[in-house]
Amino acid sequence: MHFDLAAIPERDAYKLLISTVVPRPIALVTTVDAAGRINAAPFSFFNAVSSVPPVVVLGISPGDPSSAGDGYKDTERNIRDTGEFVVNLVDEAIAERMNVCAVDFPTEIGELEHADLHPVASVGIRPPRIAESPVSFECERITGLSLGAGSMLEIGRVIHIHIRDDLVDPERYYVATEKMRLVGRMHGRGWYARTSDLFLMDRMSLAEWKDGKR
Ligand SMILES: Cc1cc2nc3c(=O)[nH]c(=O)nc-3n(C[C@H](O)[C@H](O)[C@H](O)COP(=O)(O)O)c2cc1C
Repeated sequence: MHFDLAAIPERDAYKLLISTVVPRPIALVTTVDAAGRINAAPFSFFNAVSSVPPVVVLGISPGDPSSAGDGYKDTERNIRDTGEFVVNLVDEAIAERMNVCAVDFPTEIGELEHADLHPVASVGIRPPRIAESPVSFECERITGLSLGAGSMLEIGRVIHIHIRDDLVDPERYYVATEKMRLVGRMHGRGWYARTSDLFLMDRMSLAEWKDGKR
């Protein structure tokens, strides 16, 4: 089946995209506004896109047009105003609390408190990380790219990484990824995936590939 995205409603194009690009990692993003108030919201248009330099991206859709705001989500406005954000990764233990942070609270409501999550001061930036998250990246904004129709791509350089002690061997920089039990976002409004169903496939050198052919 072929779909010309110029010929179908935006809502249906969204459904096709998010039902096929799965699972998507989830960034529970903490920011502060100009007054220092903490905001937290999940984003699954998220990924690491470079390691040298270490860079992550967030795709942020427009804010609720029916609200009195300026057309941008609080996260976008805060990143633009302060140049800083923290990406907190989401495991099974905090999945439901992450979901509370996606409730469309008014700007002045602190999501963390309502979700029973707790802020911990960051090392290099003002927004706090989340104590209950297994991994947090402190990020400095490189730039924001307007994608049109009010959507933004925020690009950030990771300057500090926090990993829960029981998940990492600091001498070898070895992370027990399978122990982390991160969750990914799937299709529809509410489907998620666990990351516990793994299989191993070594990458091959050219010589190994040639050997295997014989
Ligand atoms: C798992 C999950 C992933 C989400 N991913 C995105 C996303 O990638 N981009 C986006 O604009 N909104 C996304 N949302 C919706 C935002 O989290 C929601 O609009 C939130 O209220 C924005 O908060 P803010 O105004 O405080 O920034 C997601 C929601 C959930 C539950």
